[in-house]
Amino acid sequence: MEKKVYRIAVLKGDGIGPEVVDAALKVLDKVGELYGVDFEYREGLIGGAAIDQTGKPLPEETLKLCLESDAVLLGAVGGPKWDDLPQDKKPERGLLQIRKALNLYANLRPVKVFDALLDSSPLKPEVAKGTDLLVVRELVSGIYYGEPRGIYEENGRRCGRNTMKYCEDEIARVARKAFEIARKRRKKVTSVDKANVLDVSALWREVVNEVAKEYPDVELEHLYVDNAAMQLVRRPATFDVVVTGNIFGDILSDEAGVIPGSLGMLPSASIGDRHALYEPVHGSAPDIAGMGIANPIATILSAAMMLKYSFNMDEAARLVEKAVEETLNQGYRTPDIYSEGTKKVNTEQMTEKIIENLERLFKEERKKEG
Ligand code: NAD
Ligand code: IPM
Ligand code: MN
Repeated sequence: MEKKVYRIAVLKGDGIGPEVVDAALKVLDKVGELYGVDFEYREGLIGGAAIDQTGKPLPEETLKLCLESDAVLLGAVGGPKWDDLPQDKKPERGLLQIRKALNLYANLRPVKVFDALLDSSPLKPEVAKGTDLLVVRELVSGIYYGEPRGIYEENGRRCGRNTMKYCEDEIARVARKAFEIARKRRKKVTSVDKANVLDVSALWREVVNEVAKEYPDVELEHLYVDNAAMQLVRRPATFDVVVTGNIFGDILSDEAGVIPGSLGMLPSASIGDRHALYEPVHGSAPDIAGMGIANPIATILSAAMMLKYSFNMDEAARLVEKAVEETLNQGYRTPDIYSEGTKKVNTEQMTEKIIENLERLFKEERKKEG
């Protein structure tokens, strides 16, 4: 039988980006070996690294590479070196451009608390325990992209503005994604908006209610964003799927993201109708870049999401997730999740342990099947 080949565009980016992406590629290599598929990696420049070499945060070449690939794996972009550039020349702009160009309108950010890490959570263990939610963040519209925008002069003084705009089709498609996913989970959707103040949110709520009629088996709740921010730390385990706009989703996913102990644990998938991009939720972590101690788990779990959503390799995805959990159960910790009595390891060691566990779990799975 011919080997299946998947082409993956690899955009390592800045700071710890290259370190955590290399870790995820090692895990993918092992998956390929175990399952007899070929992952073909092609590297492209993005972010600060791309600015340094080409003057642009997202060179055309990189975009072309992504459009021609089956999936994109991204590290992180940005850092102090480029912070003083104008807005449209910053590394972060490369990220916004690629999301838009690939029309990745649904950003999935799962937040799962591993029992082994309950002590690393900033919340009381009894509050954090059992948290298993998914933020579905609208990613290609809203205030991030709305026009008019910019800093300008009005009556002799500087003013700045952005526009939060959503059209009904943009709300409906991301809401549908949320309901579809909820159907395969615990069948509950929480939609977050600011409908008591913002017109754009009033429309958001109206359209979500309309879409909900197609999913009578899924329970729907609406929360205002300020209340949602509070409920997320008060009763995180009661949430299943949380759907919201671009900026609310940005903020709430960092808030929810720290519940499992560290941003270094949080994967994400950004999905459109044709393309998909996978990246950790965290940034380039300039404070620890180059030290070899970054937590690779967020990126490894992002690769697992790629296996599931882009390649339909559900079992492989599940085993990678399980390998991560077992590695934590065995007490291995990068510094960001370290606590007394556990075993401190660096990026490379953590990755090796996860790969060892993956290999063992795969063999056990095959044995079970006889
Ligand atoms: P950050 O996520 O880079 O770091 C926040 C804190 O979490 C830091 O103390 C960092 O050391 C720690 N941390 C993050 N990931 C970690 C990991 N894998 N292992 C261990 N510790 C980890 O956020 P920031 O400091 O606000 O931003 C730094 C730069 O990254 C900025 O230029 C920002 O714009 C950019 N950024 C990029 C992305 C992205 O590429 N998707 C996301 C967020 C921020
Ligand atoms: C994220 C980041 C980005 C965002 C920035 C770096 C543009 O914070 O992926 O959450 O705001 O979307
Ligand atoms: Mn963010």
